[in-house]
This record gives sequence, C-alpha cells and structure tokens, in this order.
Amino acid sequence: MPIIIEKQYNNHSYLAVWHITESHNELQAMLPSEILTDAELASIHHPKKQIEFFCSRLTIKYLADKLGIKYLGIKKDEYGKPYLVGSTWQFSLTHTAEYIAVVIHESQSLGIDMEQPSEKLLRIAHKYLSETEKNAANNDLDKLCIYWSAKEALYKLYGKRKVIFIDNLLISPFSKDQQVIKGRLRINDIDEQYSLIVEKIAQYYLVTVC
Ligand SMILES: CC(C)(COP(=O)(O)OP(=O)(O)OC[C@H]1O[C@@H](n2cnc3c(N)ncnc32)[C@H](O)[C@@H]1OP(=O)(O)O)[C@@H](O)C(=O)NCCC(=O)NCCS
Repeated sequence: MPIIIEKQYNNHSYLAVWHITESHNELQAMLPSEILTDAELASIHHPKKQIEFFCSRLTIKYLADKLGIKYLGIKKDEYGKPYLVGSTWQFSLTHTAEYIAVVIHESQSLGIDMEQPSEKLLRIAHKYLSETEKNAANNDLDKLCIYWSAKEALYKLYGKRKVIFIDNLLISPFSKDQQVIKGRLRINDIDEQYSLIVEKIAQYYLVTVC
C-alpha cells in the first residue's frame, strides 16, 4: 500500500497521502466493483486521469476502512464538491501527477490542495492575489505557490462557485518556513477565519484547511 504519509491533526481530521507508483492495470485491479463502477470508468477518458481517479478513490477507501466508515461510493453535488454517500463524514482531495492527498473529518467541511512552484504562477498572480498579497509574495515562486494552494484549499472548503479569489479569499502575510498560516473566507454573509497547515512533500506544497 503506497500510502506514504498518514496523520491526525489536532482537530481530529485525518490526512493520507498516496505516492503513485503503480501502473494503470495494477491500480484498476485493486478497485472492487463497489468503488469503481463501469459508468464512472466510462466517464473518464484520459488514462492519466483514470490513474488519478483510481488512486483518489483507493485513498478515500483506505481512510474509510481505517475510521470504520462504511464506503458506499462518492458522488458530487451541483458545484462538483464530492461527498461520501450515506455518511456525514466530510472530505477533500487533491491530485498531482505523482501524489494524491485526502483529508477527512467526521463533520467539518475541509479543503486541501497540492501544487508545485512554477513560472506560470508569476503570470497569473494578478488573477488570484490582491495588491497587498502580491507585494507580500514579492515574485517569490514558493510564496506564490503557497498562496495559490491556500486559496484553492479555501475554495474547496467553501465548495460553491462565483468565488473571486482576489476579494473573497484572503491570506495573511507569512514567511516561507511558517507551518500554519492564516486565511479568511469572506463571501456573501460569511466571514470566517481559518488556520491553514503548510507542508512540503518533495517539490510540492500541500496546504490543508481543516
Ligand atoms: C475544482 C478545482 C478546485 C480543482 O482544483 P485542481 O487544482 O484543478 O485539482 P485538484 O486535483 O487539486 O482537485 C481536484 C478535486 O477537487 C474536488 N472538487 C471539485 N470541485 C469542487 C468543489 N466545488 N468544492 C470542493 N471540491 C471540489 C474534486 O474532488 C476533484 O477531484 P475528483 O474530480 O477526482 O473528485 C479548480 O479547478 C477550480 O475550479 N478552482 C477554482 C476556480 C478558479 O477560479 N481558480 C482560479 C482563480 S484565478
């Protein structure tokens, strides 16, 4: 089982990270039919996307088994936010080409995102950072990446569309070695502060709001 990280956070959220080392066929063979239906498989065309899908479902099933949650499948709401069928447990997931990370909690909404620093983030910084955040990031690729993942994690926690990253998702200034940063979700009648956990896995930053 290539789960490389598993831990429990202070608020009783559980994290599992899967390092993808298996082939497409190996992964598919690991999935019983109650997890992978023919209809689901048919809806994902690209083999790389299928691998991400296989691993994410295996990681969720791994956590469900560990926590005594009956796994009855995963569905998505009208906004694309996934949920466990027939359970009050909440989860969030993120994929990269090499890793899948899932965080789960008995009742609280969560968000998780994993990204690697890249030049692309410099080009799109104006789309997701306020002027204050842009100045604080100061073109530093690591900081731009942490901002990006933190906002994507907050977005997934909220789960609905029409979020303006610059206005609705705010991250307080932080230093690169800071393990917990502060974020704020401010939209419609919601104004909530959150602590976000920042971890480095290989070249990626993993940010979890839980
Ligand atoms: C949906 C979105 C969050 C996915 O993020 P991503 O970095 O492309 O991909 P990740 O691997 O990190 O996450 C994918 C998972 O997000 C989850 N997800 C999708 N929509 C979601 C939603 N509305 N709420 C919570 N989680 C969601 C799904 O579980 C998905 O995995 P799955 O399809 O295997 O079930 C992203 O594409 C998006 O729409 N972001 C917000 C839009 C935006 O405006 N961003 C840029 C601002 S400049």
